[in-house]
Amino acid sequence: MRMYDLILKKRDGGTLSSAEIAYFIRGYVAGEIPDYQVAALLMVVYFRGMTFREMADLTAAIVDSGETCDLGVIPGIKVDKHSTGGVGDKTTLVVAPLVAACGVPVVKMSGRGLGHTGGTIDKLESIPGFRTDLSLADIVSQVREVGLAVVAQTGNLTPADRRLYALRDVTATVDSIPLIASSVMSKKIAAGADAIVLDVKTGRGAFMQEEAAARELAQAMVQIGRQQGRRTLALVTGMDEPLGYAVGNALEVREALRLLRGEERPADLYALCRHLAGYMVLLGGKVDSLDEAQLLVDRQLASGAALDTMRAWVRAQGGDPAVVDEPDLLPVASFRVEVTAASAGFVQAIDARAVGRAALALGAGRAVKGEAIDPAVGVVLRRKVGDRVKAGEALATVYHNGKGVEEALSRIRQAYLLRAEKVEPPALVRAVIGAPAEEAGWTLPGK
Ligand code: URA
Repeated sequence: MRMYDLILKKRDGGTLSSAEIAYFIRGYVAGEIPDYQVAALLMVVYFRGMTFREMADLTAAIVDSGETCDLGVIPGIKVDKHSTGGVGDKTTLVVAPLVAACGVPVVKMSGRGLGHTGGTIDKLESIPGFRTDLSLADIVSQVREVGLAVVAQTGNLTPADRRLYALRDVTATVDSIPLIASSVMSKKIAAGADAIVLDVKTGRGAFMQEEAAARELAQAMVQIGRQQGRRTLALVTGMDEPLGYAVGNALEVREALRLLRGEERPADLYALCRHLAGYMVLLGGKVDSLDEAQLLVDRQLASGAALDTMRAWVRAQGGDPAVVDEPDLLPVASFRVEVTAASAGFVQAIDARAVGRAALALGAGRAVKGEAIDPAVGVVLRRKVGDRVKAGEALATVYHNGKGVEEALSRIRQAYLLRAEKVEPPALVRAVIGAPAEEAGWTLPGK
């Protein structure tokens, strides 16, 4: 087999065989196929797409390039969730203890934030002492004991994805649906959960801004997950304005804790958490319908069981459990500044991407991999889409430690669009992909 022939075949509209896909991934990881040939193939895939069979083979070959986690010794159907990245998306912090409190084990490997979107690992590490570098043996014993673990990627999982992603990043081939679907799903498959609920974001603050593309990605990922024997379902959800009110690591942990404590319940945040947790409980086999699952979830919240699970989880991963009862023990920024409305009106839109960039400027995120972040800084919205505001009233509060304040203030001012007429916020859940009725109408990218 020669890499040249694979590039030529794909360039001319052909389809790669399973053996050819396995050959190219194995050869690339072994250092036998050079970057320039792999870059050429990635660019051809970008333009030509892939059939579903090719995507499934690519995913399997990436999984086979490294270790995989065997969670078989943990009893029950282990459930994972994945978001394609949003602004203010702290759902994992709420959903993981809620689902575990329902008796469904949750095992999740999460990433760090990059660019305008945050990462769950950074949020969790804002809890003093919280460790995310657990070994597989630690994960297994913790899930048996407290029902959940959320960790940074452990072991040598999917090395082919790391190399491919780095190459895609510098060859303008990141935003290709078959390449994203196989990259995300290979990591989910290698991490070992039996069931996966995907939250594919669409809108201004999302990676996939167009809803049609988000649906296509969701369909591809659901099919790959099922082909690999995992119960898989995806929600396509709006990311036009930030989710909830808080954006920034400790600020988001505080908002999640206040929700679990019953002190505040941002409507959009809880609606999405209820959907995600409901589907996770359903796929976890605890109940027979989404309605039953959501009732169970509501009960774990109201009874305080989810809060107890959160406390046990924080303690198990080395964090200070007192934070769960006193969220004010989390890191706090030294300064705060309000952004006020120049005129009266109703909030028509809040550009999530601009708010994410404001938080990034303050030091809440990183522009390049490996940069240090400040857990305390960020933005808390005071008004959401549809809210009325009078001239001079606060739209948002910026929490800072002296870095990037002017840029953040200017981005927040530009993020808010006010109008004289009231608008209703758009629907949050745009589609559920993988419910039986959806399957008949699936279309595949590259066909
Ligand atoms: N996130 C991933 O893990 N992979 C991609 O290709 C894009 C986003």
